Amino acid sequence: MKTVNEVFSPEETFELGKTFGNAAKQGEVYAFYGDLGVGKTVFIKGFAAGLGVTEDVVSPTFTIIQEYGSGRLPMYHFDVYRIDDPDELFEIGFEEYVYGEGVTLVEWAEKAEEFLPKDRIMIRIEKDFEKGADYRKITVETPEEYGEGGREADDPRN
Ligand SMILES: Nc1ncnc2c1ncn2[C@@H]1O[C@H](COP(=O)(O)OP(=O)(O)OP(=O)(O)O)[C@@H](O)[C@H]1O
Ligand SMILES: [Mg+2]
Repeated sequence: MKTVNEVFSPEETFELGKTFGNAAKQGEVYAFYGDLGVGKTVFIKGFAAGLGVTEDVVSPTFTIIQEYGSGRLPMYHFDVYRIDDPDELFEIGFEEYVYGEGVTLVEWAEKAEEFLPKDRIMIRIEKDFEKGADYRKITVETPEEYGEGGREADDPRN
């Protein structure tokens, strides 16, 4: 299913993210697409609030991953912008997170595509300057339904 949301401020992006965090389920993978500074981290901060994360959510641009344990589910926040070689992702145990106990969110998902399950939830954030500097179009595509056998059937390690 594809839904298009239009927002006009960082606060609205945060609030939208929060509704997703409220509804998130164990094992889900959220793949974020969109240019530098478009609002991926703002959305994810809202998501964390919706999950009940009480720690400060900081951008993992330099650390690649930040893990938050204070919410309803463990949250794994990746920013793979600086990854040049997929082997680096393998080394940090990316797949263990993606197929792990919590919820995984990946900024710059196009750089990690081969490690992501097919049934990821895709979130694309775009600007449109004709509609104002703070306008964002946020398109969410969810898998129709998880394949036979659910998320586990999609795990390449099975
Ligand atoms: N509607 C909006 N939604 C989100 N952010 C907005 C919006 N309008 C303006 N902004 C501003 O855009 C910036 C978004 O920054 P953010 O760090 O979330 O981007 P990002 O997509 O994570 O970038 P990066 O690829 O560098 O990680 C913030 O400075 C925020 O205040
Ligand atoms: Mg970011």
